[in-house]
Amino acid sequence: MTDTLTIRRPDDWHLHFRDGDVMRGVVPYTARQFARAIVMPNLSPPITTSEMARAYRDRIVAAVPNGIDFTPLMTCYLTDTTDADDLARGASEGVFTAAKLYPANATTNSAHGISDVERIYPVLERMEAEDIVLCVHGEVTDDDIDVFDREAEFIARHLRPIAKAFPKLRIVFEHITTKDAIDFVMEMGENVAATITPQHLHINRNAMLVGGIQPHNYCLPVAKREIHRLALRKAATSGAPKFFLGTDSAPHLRHAKESACGCAGIFNAPHALESYLEVFDDENALDRFEGFASVHGPAFYKLPANETQITLKRRDCAVTASLDLTNEEIVPFHAGQTLRWRLVSADG
Ligand code: NCD
Ligand code: ZN
Ligand code: ZN
Repeated sequence: MTDTLTIRRPDDWHLHFRDGDVMRGVVPYTARQFARAIVMPNLSPPITTSEMARAYRDRIVAAVPNGIDFTPLMTCYLTDTTDADDLARGASEGVFTAAKLYPANATTNSAHGISDVERIYPVLERMEAEDIVLCVHGEVTDDDIDVFDREAEFIARHLRPIAKAFPKLRIVFEHITTKDAIDFVMEMGENVAATITPQHLHINRNAMLVGGIQPHNYCLPVAKREIHRLALRKAATSGAPKFFLGTDSAPHLRHAKESACGCAGIFNAPHALESYLEVFDDENALDRFEGFASVHGPAFYKLPANETQITLKRRDCAVTASLDLTNEEIVPFHAGQTLRWRLVSADG
């Protein structure tokens, strides 16, 4: 039995840091494990210009603990009025690594998102020409579409047409939750990939709704039926380069989760790697973990894989029931549980 795993240092290709005190509180958890992270732009107000992204990046870099090498990769929040010239300039100057499409009101802080996907086709055309990666929150928002069907419906209505209209555009279908999404990504060319979160590999919708409502297991897209979770585990551990690590760690304070209208988002940053690794272990795929965590993402983003290494050992890893953040509590994913692997060294 393998008890020690040393791999290239991983990156997180989908992450929420927020801003201010919360950001300063959560950055160290991610920087401890990952060399780089795609930082999502859904702040209030959202990061819509290269100037805002530069300033936000500086604030994040200032929050990285001394002696840790961590690089935030910034994204541009697409709106109905995105300035394609600023986006292209930001990308060429290395400020933007990608741009993010949120359908309006699909998720946390997405009120400024796209009201009609076809309206941003000129921006997508420019992104295709400049080879800028498009990250997509893939859910329709129509009242008459069941929340469990919103991802599948988005593929048919929007993602397939986008991929057809812009055949060279690199697209990351973010935090996929369904077999439909896996099938779509597999059917497309090398320019279409997907991130998979730890929570969607661990839980199905029962975890949210059985034994009383479980707000800390609520995120968007919501966890689906067991068949989808099993399909996601198979895809993540398959070795296919189209699937890579994106935690979607999304901190919300305890009171905002445990509320009559609780926020969507799971804070998994403290033990993200250990959480994923348990899945790879259970699926007898420890040898495929490095590809998913450290190789497929950089290859898709056309960035070098990290040269430094990390080591994880088969050791109990107790997850606390709650953490202190800005003098308030935040409940992490796996709160109160014991994971079976532990990150022991960030430098091999
Ligand atoms: C994210 C957040 O809180 O910013 N929430 C979530 O449930 N995933 C937004 C997102 O990624 O959709
Ligand atoms: Zn999202
Ligand atoms: Zn997210």
